[in-house]
Amino acid sequence: MPTALVLGASRGLGLEFAKQYLADGWRVYATHRAEADRVRLRDLGAQTLALDVLAADDLAGLAWQLEGERIDVAVVNAGVYGPRDSHPQHPPTNGEFDLVMHTNVLAPMRLLPRLAPLIGPARGTLAFMSSRMGSISATGAGHGMLYRVSKAAENMVARARARRAGRARRARARAAPGVGAHRHGRAQRRRRGAGERGRHAARDRRRGRIPGRRLLRLPRAVARMVRPCC
Ligand SMILES: NC(=O)c1ccc[n+]([C@@H]2O[C@H](COP(=O)([O-])OP(=O)(O)OC[C@H]3O[C@@H](n4cnc5c(N)ncnc54)[C@H](OP(=O)(O)O)[C@@H]3O)[C@@H](O)[C@H]2O)c1
Repeated sequence: MPTALVLGASRGLGLEFAKQYLADGWRVYATHRAEADRVRLRDLGAQTLALDVLAADDLAGLAWQLEGERIDVAVVNAGVYGPRDSHPQHPPTNGEFDLVMHTNVLAPMRLLPRLAPLIGPARGTLAFMSSRMGSISATGAGHGMLYRVSKAAENMVARARARRAGRARRARARAAPGVGAHRHGRAQRRRRGAGERGRHAARDRRRGRIPGRRLLRLPRAVARMVRPCC
C-alpha cells in the first residue's frame, strides 16, 4: 500500500489531498495544528501528526516519528497568503514578512533534509505546493506581492534541491493548483469572464472530468498537474 505524507492537511487543498489519497486506498500521514483537526483527520482514516512548520522542535519530532518509514509522496502544502493589501506601493511590516517567508520559504528549506531520507527508499515524490503567482516570467499583476515573492523563493528551494541531488535525484515536483481551488482564488475567479470559465468547463467535459472539480482532484491528476521542477 503506497504511503502519502501531507504537511498541512487540516483544510483546503491539504485536506482534499488527504481525503483523495485515502479514497484511493493509500496510507496517509496527515499533519495538523489544532486538536479538532486531529480528530477530523483521524476519523477520516489518516494517521495524524502534530506539526507547526515554524517550530523547530516539531520538525525534529516529525522526523523522529516517521523514522524508518517509506513515503511515496510527500506534499509540502502548509502555506500562508499573508496580507491581502500587499503591493509595490504597500510593503509588508516586519511581522507580515516574517510570517509569510518563514512559513512558505524557511519551513520548506528546513523540511528538505528531514523528508529526503523518508522518500529516498521508496524513490518517492516530494511535491511543493507552488503557485503561478510565484512565476517570474508569468507575472501579470502586482497584487499579493509578499505571497508572490515567497512562492518564487519556494520555487527556488525546489530547484536548488533538485540540482543538488543531481542525476541520482528522486522525483521532485512543484505543483501549481491554479487559481481558485477556493479562498486564495475567489477574487480572481470573480474577475474571470464567463468565456474563460466556459472554456475550462468544456475542456473538463472533453477529458471526462466533472466541470469545476478539476482543481480539487489532485492525487488522481498528479501526473497531469505536477510539473517536474527541472
Ligand atoms: N487555493 C489556491 O487556489 C492555491 C493556488 C496556488 C497555490 N496554493 C498553495 O497551496 C497550499 C494550500 O493552499 P490552501 O488554499 O489550501 O490554503 P489554506 O486553506 O489557507 O490552508 C493552509 C494550510 O496550511 C497550514 N498551515 C499554515 N501555517 C502553518 C504552520 N505554521 N504550520 C503547519 N501548518 C500550517 C494550515 O493549517 P491550520 O489549519 O492549522 O492553519 C492549513 O492546513 C498553499 O501552500 C498555497 O500557497 C493554493
